[in-house]
Amino acid sequence: MPDTAPVTLPEQLGFGRYFTDRIFVQRYNTQQGWHDARIATTKTLELDAAASVLHCGQAVFEGTKAYRRPDAAVNLFRPEKNCERFNASARRMGMPEIDVAAHIAAIKQIVTLEQRWIPTQPGSALYIRPVMIAIESVLEVRPSNDYLHFILLSPVGPYFGGGLKPIAVQVERDYVRAARGGTGEAKTTANYAGTLMPTRRARAQGYDQVLWLDAVERRYVEELGGMNVAFVIEGKRIVTPALTGTILPGVTRDSLLRLAPDLGYAMSEERLEIEQLLREIDNGTVTEAFALGTGAVIAPIGRLGYNGKDHIVNHAQVGPVTQRLYQTLTDIQYGRSADKYGWTEQLS
Ligand SMILES: Cc1ncc(COP(=O)(O)O)c(C=O)c1O
Repeated sequence: MPDTAPVTLPEQLGFGRYFTDRIFVQRYNTQQGWHDARIATTKTLELDAAASVLHCGQAVFEGTKAYRRPDAAVNLFRPEKNCERFNASARRMGMPEIDVAAHIAAIKQIVTLEQRWIPTQPGSALYIRPVMIAIESVLEVRPSNDYLHFILLSPVGPYFGGGLKPIAVQVERDYVRAARGGTGEAKTTANYAGTLMPTRRARAQGYDQVLWLDAVERRYVEELGGMNVAFVIEGKRIVTPALTGTILPGVTRDSLLRLAPDLGYAMSEERLEIEQLLREIDNGTVTEAFALGTGAVIAPIGRLGYNGKDHIVNHAQVGPVTQRLYQTLTDIQYGRSADKYGWTEQLS
């Protein structure tokens, strides 16, 4: 039964700091497949110190959101796309897949039970975090035979704080996030662990995020630590790095590739050279830049630091294309406008 007592949460939710009471959890072993699905009333997990995830790091996760509509109903946004990526990540990491319909049903079950936690302040949502970890007690370096799948929920505000505020991004020259043939296009924990120290370093230098370059030449733009990236050319054309196997194929990115042309902006996937992009920022050919993802939605980039020099995009102001894409996408997600793409699924 859904709990109906109101939840008191601070106005500023931050991102991923608060959690609902319950999680969905199920187990897997090679004999039984997925089994023992249940709603647990605590998010504390009991793990053996030998659990394989703690040693080999076999873990994948996802991020999608439930949005409160103006009519108080609840929208999910492209949940099947998200569950398909969860399975793609699981395959890459040698882990078992979950039936997409069963995974969506589990998401709907736990979100329905916990819907009183869906925040209503502007830009907020209930973040849904499915995770799969290897739990066999074994130190041998091989795929585990036992897994745990759980779904955690967190009421969140906008990733970068309130409003469409331009962020500052440092182009990383010393470290790389992912190499071809590696795990860059899987949403696995190791990809994030390796970004933490360089991102902390960038923050200490006054930036919000790191922009990763290709691992071989450090020449081509890839993505941010937890978001894809796109640039607006002369106010009418949008470019985003092509998927080369090292970039996470974002659901937001995929949605904009469909949406942007309908708003009159051609959008293409290209190999983008950093030095050329920076020249085009400086000479005004690149008129806007933005990060895009479930957490950040669409976040304007106002400043790009490279080799000790800052390049200012659009006078560090939110540009009209970024603004329009943000508005159009969020209107669909929150059910404020008709969804002609069939991307939203309402909880019944
Ligand atoms: C590394 C990385 N790139 C891109 C994205 C954006 O993907 P999506 O739009 O599906 O949230 C994310 C977020 O999941 C991410 O972690």
